[in-house]
Amino acid sequence: MGFRKEFIWGAASSAYQVEGAWDRDRKGVGVWDLYCREPGRILDGSNGDRACMHYEKYEEDVRHMAQMGLNAYRFSVSWPRIFPEGTGMVNEKGLRFYSDLADCLLEHGIEPWITLFHWNLPYVLYQRGGYLNPDFPDWFAAYAETVVKALSDRVTHFITFNEPQCFVGLGFLTGEHAPGLRMMLSDTFRMAHHVLLAHGKAVQSMRAAAAQPIQIGYAPTCGAAYPASSSPEDVEAAKNRYFACPEDLSNWTWNVSWWSDPVMLGTYPEDGLRLYEPWLPPIGSNDLKQICQPVDFYGQNLYNGMEYRAGNGPEAVRRRDGFPKTAAQWPVTPECLYWGPRFLYERYQTPIYITENGMSCHDTVSMDGKVHDPNRIDFLRRYLRELRRASEDGVDIRGYFQWSLTDNFEWAKGYQERFGLIYVDFQTQERIWKDSAYWYQELIRSSGELL
Ligand code: GCO
Repeated sequence: MGFRKEFIWGAASSAYQVEGAWDRDRKGVGVWDLYCREPGRILDGSNGDRACMHYEKYEEDVRHMAQMGLNAYRFSVSWPRIFPEGTGMVNEKGLRFYSDLADCLLEHGIEPWITLFHWNLPYVLYQRGGYLNPDFPDWFAAYAETVVKALSDRVTHFITFNEPQCFVGLGFLTGEHAPGLRMMLSDTFRMAHHVLLAHGKAVQSMRAAAAQPIQIGYAPTCGAAYPASSSPEDVEAAKNRYFACPEDLSNWTWNVSWWSDPVMLGTYPEDGLRLYEPWLPPIGSNDLKQICQPVDFYGQNLYNGMEYRAGNGPEAVRRRDGFPKTAAQWPVTPECLYWGPRFLYERYQTPIYITENGMSCHDTVSMDGKVHDPNRIDFLRRYLRELRRASEDGVDIRGYFQWSLTDNFEWAKGYQERFGLIYVDFQTQERIWKDSAYWYQELIRSSGELL
């Protein structure tokens, strides 16, 4: 059986990680532009000022995508490039870049998929309280409407937020990402509520502004829980853990249901309401209705997971010594790409796209001038076989976006992690296809049969 016939084979990126041109053509400043300038914040002291110079080199990169045979390219729009002050005056040059990129993709037969928010919040809005400000939903809905008005005559797939778990949790709870703060718990729950309200308000404004029917989705993340065996007890234990709200408040944002049940089901999860009650903001009687606007797909950025068995109540299975890991020290757990989509589809009954999956390798240019990355090919083969198995078991999986097309700026890790199918020499900006890029090209050509 294999994947669905119209399965989308894509690749993903984000504006701050690839574009560079951080101050070009009247782009405004975002929190990441400034955060990277703070000593000690980025592992190698680097920043995204230049990154992969995608702003200048997008035509070359689109040619690589076309040669690879991608059906779609998921990229994000930089909010500060469109609204340098976050709201108010629109920067037409910023819109023009994304219009040209969309045209170039379509000319090459590649579907543009736009993520509206992938972390680089306009600094002016941060100064006005950012996600904590009750006006954030209005700010975001106006930005989303502007992008949809400008591009929906050609672009029909939009994602509101990328990984709110990270930009709220890492940015304001643990302080590992921009702006590197450790706010009070009540502030972080209020932020989360405003982000969810912003998602719902934006879905409404986008649908009203669209030049044609558009597909709107959402791209949260989290590690997936998977069972130690296919026994009903182990499966139930894993599902229970997958959707449970964490009791560990120091990292509470790392969960699925708090961020997805309101969007997909119109309710906050009961266990979270109970656990987090002392720190929750007032929830308006109409709030959940506003948040739960119909979406067309559920995106999931999914890289790895944790094994559980029933035991005496769900218990995590300790990973064996020497468990396989990526260069980023993430565990290699292909099972997560079967059980994650399966559990998510059972709960939300909405078509699923894997909006990110991939791995970081110690990629280098070998003496033969090539970049050999057998680990990535093995990783992709194992994970995609699991995804195919989920599809064959009835999970409505519509597509897969490899993270990432090119090596790029990996947030607090700077350029220390290489996730790309295409190697980038950040001095010369030369692109070199890794062996995995040729493998992915063949996989797409075979419509997944190659697996
Ligand atoms: C994320 C982000 C990406 C990362 C990628 C590798 O999932 O953290 O969406 O921007 O670069 O996942 O960490």
